[in-house]
Parts: sequence; C-alpha cells; structure tokens
Amino acid sequence: MFKMKQLLAILFTGILSFSLGAHAEIKLIKTTDGSEFKITDPKAFGDTKKKDNVKTKAEIEFLKTGKNIYVGDAKAEKRGKKRFGYWSCTQCHGPTAKGQVGPGLVGPTFKYPKDITNQGMLETIWFGTNGGMGGKGYGVMAADDGMTVDELLKTIAWVRTQGSQGISGNEDENMKKFLKN
Ligand code: HEC
Repeated sequence: MFKMKQLLAILFTGILSFSLGAHAEIKLIKTTDGSEFKITDPKAFGDTKKKDNVKTKAEIEFLKTGKNIYVGDAKAEKRGKKRFGYWSCTQCHGPTAKGQVGPGLVGPTFKYPKDITNQGMLETIWFGTNGGMGGKGYGVMAADDGMTVDELLKTIAWVRTQGSQGISGNEDENMKKFLKN
C-alpha cells in the first residue's frame, strides 16, 4: 500500500510539472515602451497559405520558448523572402535587408540590441518602434490587417540568411551574455 501511495505521488508530481511546463509562455515586450503585450487574436496566427488561422508548430514553439524553428529551413526562408517583399519591408530595408531608407537588418549590431535574438526582432516588428517604424503585427498595423506570427517567423528566418556573421537568432544563452556586455 505504501508503495502505491509513493507511486501515485510520483505520478502526480510528474503530471503537475508537465502541465505547468506546457503552460509556460514567453513574455513579449514592446520595443516602443517596454511594456508587456500578448498576442491573442486567432487571426494573428496560422500559415497564410492555408488561411485557416490554426497555430503552426513554429508558432507554438515560439510562444513557448521564443525560438524560431524556421531558421535553417530553406523552404520557410524562401517563403519569408516573398513575405518581406509582400509587406514592403523591401522598400525601406532594401531587397537584401542590408538597408535603404531604413537601417540594415543583418547585424551584428542593431539599434535595438535585442533584435539579435529572434524573439526580440519579432517584438520590434510586431509593435514597431518610436523612431519611424509602425508595427506590422496583425491588428497592430490596421484593425483587420497585418502579419501572422507564422509569416513573421519565416520573414525573420530569411533576414538571418542575409547576414555574414552566422547569427541564427536562436543562440539564447550566448546572446543574453552578449546583451549584458
Ligand atoms: C516605411 C518604411 C519601413 C517599412 C515598410 C519597414 N520598416 Fe523596418 N524600419 C524602418 C525604420 C525607419 C526603422 C528604424 C526605426 C527606429 O530607429 O526606431 C526600422 C527598423 C526596423 C528594425 C529594427 C532594426 C534594429 O537595428 O534594431 C527591424 C528588425 C525592422 N525594421 C524590420 C522590418 C520588417 C521585417 C519590415 C516588413 C515587415 C519592415 N521593417 C518594414 C522603416 C521601415
């Protein structure tokens, strides 16, 4: 009997920590004023080709860890390049994202240092900046318009391919150290 209780206790702890883990979400911070924001509108999610607003694997992973699994995925990067043109990023940042009217986006230094991480860059593009760029996220750009998280992740993945420093934006621990220095 004692053993059974122990077993149940272990099982229960396991389930508890699993469900706590599954609910863990990253905190998204506006580049404009440092406040937290959440992306909750279902229309802000989904593969734009499917138009079904179902959260993609990449979106689920991003919301949990801040990582962009499209980095290094050639198909997603190709699609990201197209979305970079579609949303007129090209007009201001140039066709290779190295800068035109707006600044270059390939680093290794950024005006907003957190943009070296994929989470930071998504936060900057989603809500925009105080220095001349409006937010492009769904519902931020206009009431019923803007990028989904999925297409922004693909766009960022492509932007990373344009740099010569091999920055993937997913180098969490190293980047955190880098940001402190
Ligand atoms: C109308 C011109 C314009 C468009 C369109 C535009 N940007 Fe920008 N972007 C800017 C300007 C200007 C800045 C500098 C803002 C500042 O200094 O606060 C900027 C800043 C940025 C930054 C921050 C760079 C850094 O050094 O920290 C990123 C990332 C970025 N843009 C990505 C994008 C992406 C991706 C798109 C397309 C979805 C886009 N921008 C569309 C003008 C534009």
